[in-house]
Amino acid sequence: MNPVILAIESSCDDTSAAVMVGGEIRSNVVATQQVHEQYGGVVPELASRAHQQHLIPVVEAALQKAGITKQELDVVAFTQGPGLLGSLLVGGMFAKTLALALGKPLIAVNHMRAHILAHFIEAPRPVFPFLCLTVSGGHTQLVVVRSALDMEIIGQTIDDAAGEAFDKTAKLLGLPYPGGPHLDKLARQGNPTRFQFPVGAMPGYDFSFSGLKTAVLYFLKKETAQNPNFVQENLADLCASIQHTIIQTLLRQLRRAAHDQGLTQIALAGGVAANSGLRQALQEEADTQGWQVFIPAFQYCTDNAGMVAMTAQFQYEAGDFADQFVSSDPRLKLG
Ligand code: KG4
Ligand code: ZN
Repeated sequence: MNPVILAIESSCDDTSAAVMVGGEIRSNVVATQQVHEQYGGVVPELASRAHQQHLIPVVEAALQKAGITKQELDVVAFTQGPGLLGSLLVGGMFAKTLALALGKPLIAVNHMRAHILAHFIEAPRPVFPFLCLTVSGGHTQLVVVRSALDMEIIGQTIDDAAGEAFDKTAKLLGLPYPGGPHLDKLARQGNPTRFQFPVGAMPGYDFSFSGLKTAVLYFLKKETAQNPNFVQENLADLCASIQHTIIQTLLRQLRRAAHDQGLTQIALAGGVAANSGLRQALQEEADTQGWQVFIPAFQYCTDNAGMVAMTAQFQYEAGDFADQFVSSDPRLKLG
């Protein structure tokens, strides 16, 4: 089936629109909101306002880049949740209104499912069933993916997400928001075993990262009381050691889950998949375990409408449409 799909993503602080034609991405436009930088985190009300400003130009740019007119669309898809309610409402109301005005069907997409199905946008694509580790600023999940529409969360964070662990520890080191990419860059010059931080030990396949943040906070307080320049003098080693701890926490649960589930195709999704240390450690682990690893191109790892379009394509084929009364849901479950 070759539908022409317009997809809208507005769950957090990226406004994005993509056009997919017959399963191929024709455009994927993302406007990232800079306004949150000065606050050191996403401010929900400002995110909603910025979505309102960006959405129409982003949609127009995506249509133009794809060489598609509104009249040529077969379906309008949008992120229903999970995410920030105000942000979701902006994209959702726009998508519903456009679909109604054009007389076209609507598809409501789960954001976490979309992160996983981003793996199907470009080759190499995993084959069902596979295990996906989704690591973003808001989520950390281990998911058994049996088909495009049949997924089971077998492990998740009980407190902070992996991206949050990067961002919050980076903030303690005085790095700008979001700190993950800065910490990654500095870690490349550092010694990952110089400082030891606790690895959140959880039963089963769950994760916990809040202990790391507290451990780093108290460690820095103690050291800077003796040497006020401790952070500046040891920045690369601190970054490398923190990153190493986060990666080991992720890999330990991933290893256990892959072994128990008997799965050897391992997919990595979400913004933290950009982390160079994680990519390298996962590849090394794969070589040892005999896994095949899949990581989407960077533009499909961070929040983007391309992954929403891909998911909509699968839902279109399954006849999974929404009506105009469908509600945005900040806590929408994957399943
Ligand atoms: O998936 P994403 O773009 O947005 C959410 O849905 O949250 O992920 C953003 C998260 C942020 O926490 C950011 O710091 C983190 O991904 N991130 C990284 C790197 N690039 C992005 N964390 C560590 N290393 C990176 N290179
Ligand atoms: Zn996301």
